[in-house]
Amino acid sequence: MDRIAITGGVPLHGEIAISGAKNSAIKLMAASLLTDEPLRLTNMPRLADTRFLGRLLQRLGTELVEQTGEAGAETVLHTREIVSGIAPYDLVRQMRASFNVLGPLIARTGQAKVSLPGGCTIGARPVDLHLEALRALGATIDLHEGYVYAQAPRGLSGAEIRFPFVSVGATEHTLLAAVLARGQTVLHNAAAEPEIEDLAVCLNAMGARISGAGTSSLVIEGVDRLHGTTHAVIPDRIETGTYALAAAMAGGEVRLTATRSDFIAALLDRMEEAGVGVERHEDGVTIRRGPERLRAVEIETDPYPGFATDLQAQFMALMTLADGESVIRETIFENRFMHAPELSRLGADISVSGGEARVRGVEALEGAQVMATDLRASVSLVIAGLAARGETVVNRVYHLDRGFERLEAKLSACGARIHRIVGDGDPED
Ligand code: UD1
Repeated sequence: MDRIAITGGVPLHGEIAISGAKNSAIKLMAASLLTDEPLRLTNMPRLADTRFLGRLLQRLGTELVEQTGEAGAETVLHTREIVSGIAPYDLVRQMRASFNVLGPLIARTGQAKVSLPGGCTIGARPVDLHLEALRALGATIDLHEGYVYAQAPRGLSGAEIRFPFVSVGATEHTLLAAVLARGQTVLHNAAAEPEIEDLAVCLNAMGARISGAGTSSLVIEGVDRLHGTTHAVIPDRIETGTYALAAAMAGGEVRLTATRSDFIAALLDRMEEAGVGVERHEDGVTIRRGPERLRAVEIETDPYPGFATDLQAQFMALMTLADGESVIRETIFENRFMHAPELSRLGADISVSGGEARVRGVEALEGAQVMATDLRASVSLVIAGLAARGETVVNRVYHLDRGFERLEAKLSACGARIHRIVGDGDPED
């Protein structure tokens, strides 16, 4: 299993180009199941998660070609027909969002058998809202032996659906099914994340009729068929925020390009409050931090446009060295503080009680061996390692590879002393 070694204490200077959003790319890839024409996705990140989903789509009948176009990495997905409506456990468990093939499969063929998902170990993460929404659209859903069996032999029909709380996955999944349903679907209390808007823009370019994306109410007028299109994946706001926090942690000056600062407005506001220099540009943001100590600030994670739960671990890393006590409230996922004990191994002073962590800033962190537990937690350890004295070794970095493209290369280009130690055939691989 690979590890990442970081020698801390080197300020970062340079530019990092942000990749396409993982969480958008994987939903857009699933959308390709809805048409028999090619869907060309540009600005594609090349990640373990996109590879996992690619493998599953190929099993279902998608021809998938990865190529380099004028603007970088592209993937062309072409599903002339669905050759299998079965998404097996061994492929779905590798990446939770693979479950989102269920909706498109039912919408296109009237039936599907999809394994219940695995995914990051950050709480229970059920899919009840997804299944309720598909039922509301007229699908019959049965659960047996870890699989969802879904049927809609006469097709799906529009419905009015009110989500009891905001779910990104359930909103996207319902969109992916409702676009081909008969009649109108209205979604209330929908998630408003930029990735949902991106999905709606792409689906509309494919011939769907969705309005309200980016707000809490979506209206979808079902259409009979969708066609192919070319669509550019939006920039990854979590990668943007992560490198912004890395620069703030290590000090120096880093310009993040090919991205949008408005996607991480809540984070940038908190960073400025803490004393980090933030300069917003049309194509990104510059982060500056001198030798002065930062101030502790409080955060609470919330659905977009609130503070993203996917940036909570990285922000906690920054707060470990701030002056004072920072209270961090996690409201989206239970059990999403697994990075706290690992950060404590580096010398951080953190206590967790329920959904709240109290971080009392220390003068310095010290390098140590730490263990990555989930995608965002792993990268928080890398960020902490950039500022810790001596060497930090992050074990089990396969989590990182799921969501961060060329992480070591991007950070080393800014002067970070970071390298990968390639796996030694550990059976846990
Ligand atoms: C997506 C993102 C993830 C991000 C999260 C919240 C992807 C691939 N993942 O995850 O990175 O952290 O949004 O911004 O895009 N829930 C239920 N029942 C359901 C669905 C969700 O109880 O049927 C709960 C979840 O357990 C969680 C909350 O709702 O507590 C929000 O989850 P959701 O917004 O659905 O997150 P994901 O789509 O899984």
